[in-house]
Amino acid sequence: MARLFSEVNKGRVRMRRIRRKLSPFPFNNAGGRFSLSVALWTCVFLIMFIYFFTYITKRTNGRLIHVHPNHLSVAYELEEIEEEPDFRLPSAHKRNPRAVKRRGPKKPSTAISKFLDESSEIHSMFFPDRSLTVGLKVENSSSSSTGYFYPGQIWLDTDGNPIQAHGGGIFFDARSETYYWYGENKDGATYHAQHKGTARVDIIGVGCYSSNDLWSWKNEGIVLRGKERNMTHDLYKTNVVERPKVIFNAKTNQYVMWMHIDDGNYNKASVGVAISNSPTGPFTYLYSMRPHGSDSRDMTLFKDDDGIAYLIYSSRENIDFHVGPLTEDYLGLTGVMKRILVRQHREAPAVFKHRGTYYMITSGCSGWAPNRAMAHAAASVMGPWENIGNPSVGGNRVLRLTTFFSQGTFVLPLPGIPGSFIFMADRWNPSDLRDSRYVWLPLKVGGLADEPMDYTFGFPLWSRVSIFWHKRWRLPEGWKNVN
Ligand code: DGJ
Repeated sequence: MARLFSEVNKGRVRMRRIRRKLSPFPFNNAGGRFSLSVALWTCVFLIMFIYFFTYITKRTNGRLIHVHPNHLSVAYELEEIEEEPDFRLPSAHKRNPRAVKRRGPKKPSTAISKFLDESSEIHSMFFPDRSLTVGLKVENSSSSSTGYFYPGQIWLDTDGNPIQAHGGGIFFDARSETYYWYGENKDGATYHAQHKGTARVDIIGVGCYSSNDLWSWKNEGIVLRGKERNMTHDLYKTNVVERPKVIFNAKTNQYVMWMHIDDGNYNKASVGVAISNSPTGPFTYLYSMRPHGSDSRDMTLFKDDDGIAYLIYSSRENIDFHVGPLTEDYLGLTGVMKRILVRQHREAPAVFKHRGTYYMITSGCSGWAPNRAMAHAAASVMGPWENIGNPSVGGNRVLRLTTFFSQGTFVLPLPGIPGSFIFMADRWNPSDLRDSRYVWLPLKVGGLADEPMDYTFGFPLWSRVSIFWHKRWRLPEGWKNVN
């Protein structure tokens, strides 16, 4: 036995020697104990140095600003990976054998079909009722949930009514330092045109909400109203207005809204333009058009730092995206257009920029059903754009494969925390579209991308885009102090 132990020990020593030989790190080699502790202390010192340096000052655009360590730790909190157990789907109930004969065997029910089926437990899990609401009337705002985002729960405005701003986008008005959230007001009955037809709601109009903290939102009313009687108008109630986005034109002093305009069957496939002298409207509807002579469905606007604005839209029956600059007054398009993400069948574009690189989050095309998001990156808005992977992080596999059961609509930069954004998405409820929910989550640019197609000296060219799942989260205190 003793011999056996001594053989084993000899073996271990040999192994250790071999490992030492192979180690590429100098402090692991002979006499390494001292060097290892030096290396460790150097690391500790460096970490402390970086921490205190960031604590004292941070230089942004040549200005010195103070950053409280709490802000940093809360910012890190946003990136914490919050795991969820896998869903246990309720077992399928036994079917009447006659029904099996008549309709054939039932297709296996997936998490997504359960999610869409309003009679399932999964559906009610993702659409909790009004007993769980976020955002309180101003007079009650001392609750412990104040300031916390609860993705998927009913979100109330400052009057205590559920926010109606679906497929929306946010415009920050630098003049009044106010955020405006524009989106589809879907507060009406949901119709299914024919059997299996796309669920729809009569146009009510584009709603607008204002906020200084991105959490409590005041209803500013319908800023572009649907038409009740004029059947030839684009905004006639049986048509479709989706994904309105607003930008400001500094040359004309006008607020300009672009939106997806369609008929009830999604055949018109156009974009509409409206203008206003005030962010809270009313907006005057100008016209609709097929951009660059092409069909256009899901769309977004992106205004670059140089003031040039771009329209990005799904085209050729959602097979590709098109991108092109707007005219200087933002009321039309120049003749320039590039086809991007060719044959990738994407929709729901949301574009943002970080350190000179353009990023975009898109969804697949599956109607109101959720699917896997994809992040893309480009050196120019006009492309070429490359896929850099599924941005969803945390939760569980199903949540990551369904973008947390939601579809993106906008990405809002948090100027106080460079590289941090809010990913805004809709959790559509096609059985009752007015009850669709908002899923807002922290988005971070940093780290190496998952699916980089381009390499520079062996290193991927793009940073990773991550959207972190949280059941409940808040913005770091003082998040807007920088700019
Ligand atoms: C998916 C789009 O992203 C939504 O805006 C809406 O058009 C639905 N399709 C309609 O099915």
